[in-house]
Amino acid sequence: GGLITLDRGFKNTGSCESAITFLNGEEGILRYRGYSIEDLAENASFLEVAYLLIFGELPSESELNKFYDDIKAESNVDEEMHKILDGFPKSAHPMGVVSSLTNALIAFNPSSVNVESKEDMYNAIIKLLAKFPVLCAWALRKRTGQPLDYGDDSLGYVENVLKMMFKKANQNYEVDPVIASALNKLLILHADHEQNCSTSTVRVVGSSHAGLFASISAGISALWGPLHGGANQAVIEMLEGIKEDGGDTKKYMQKAKDKEDPFRLMGFGHRVYKNFDPRARIIKKSADDVLGNLGVEDPILDIAKGLEKEALEDDYFVKRKLYPNVDFYSGIIYRALGIPTEMFTVMFALGRLPGWIAQWREMRLGKEPIGRPRQVYTGEKLRSYKPMDQR
Ligand code: CMC
Repeated sequence: GGLITLDRGFKNTGSCESAITFLNGEEGILRYRGYSIEDLAENASFLEVAYLLIFGELPSESELNKFYDDIKAESNVDEEMHKILDGFPKSAHPMGVVSSLTNALIAFNPSSVNVESKEDMYNAIIKLLAKFPVLCAWALRKRTGQPLDYGDDSLGYVENVLKMMFKKANQNYEVDPVIASALNKLLILHADHEQNCSTSTVRVVGSSHAGLFASISAGISALWGPLHGGANQAVIEMLEGIKEDGGDTKKYMQKAKDKEDPFRLMGFGHRVYKNFDPRARIIKKSADDVLGNLGVEDPILDIAKGLEKEALEDDYFVKRKLYPNVDFYSGIIYRALGIPTEMFTVMFALGRLPGWIAQWREMRLGKEPIGRPRQVYTGEKLRSYKPMDQR
């Protein structure tokens, strides 16, 4: 073989061509299919953005209606799936539950695995967009001890997610428009982010022609980690810890800078953004608006703002170009919406689903070869087997 170029963490390796998401880390620009994230977060619905990401154009009214009708027609989840959910302990982390259930869906929808045509592909995509929110809501209801619930066809996609998650048994549930609009915006901001860890995972798994659901299930597992999507849970836990410890942000800044200390400022830093994360800017403003509109006061928001201010003025962070990322303020909004901390990364997954799907579809339609990086071997040279009594 030829010379292998080593690039740990793929810091400077392009893995594919893509027409979906444009990201300029130096200037803090993020666009889906050419539309700026600011524009979409302000004006679009999450379902429109899902359509845009997957199919490349904003839908006309009739295209959007058909898309949503198709989704609604597939929103049933096999009753046998309840048994799988029942098998998990109540304490199970919802990310593990959701990833497992997504994989389990394959058994009940075998036709979604082999996608030979655009039509097969469309059907698999619709199924997943329809069933995934149900699984997310079930994971939450399991934790909160509520009986499982199905959607309400009369509601929009995002409103329906809220109702499936929060409707209590034998009680009415009215969707609060402030909450629905906040969630809509958060989901849009999370919907795609080019070749991040989970998306690359989806592409690599899918490149072996494992099906869509298996690829997405793997992506959910990748998202779970605290360096990636799991950071939103880790941020709130960190902020709570700082509050309980007396709110001394300076002490934690010091810890974050200490190379002997494993503590990192969660929600700070990004592989690509070296100026600011445009999503964080929108989310910070949204956190103020949502808490104000809902009349929620959260002392953790003040701690977060204090930490941000200190970090932006601190040499260590300035020199390394570390800025708040999408996960820094999102958890504060989720909390205000009544979503438990351990569900935050599931909300991220729900938002990222259209992006994962769009990337998987582009990869398959582009007949991308199997993902198979090389390595630089550093192990032993050839040696002979040693019998047990000589070791
Ligand atoms: N706190 C303290 N120091 C940091 C932090 C942080 N949050 N992030 C990076 N650094 C330092 C790091 O120690 C290194 O210092 P040095 O040059 O002295 O060795 C330098 O900054 C560069 O960091 P890196 O780890 O080499 O950068 P990376 O591109 O490999 O990692 C990252 C990016 C996001 C994993 C990292 O910044 C991090 O761990 N952040 C905290 C977790 C987090 O918020 N993740 C969410 C990412 S955004 C959305 C998402 O993917 O979900």
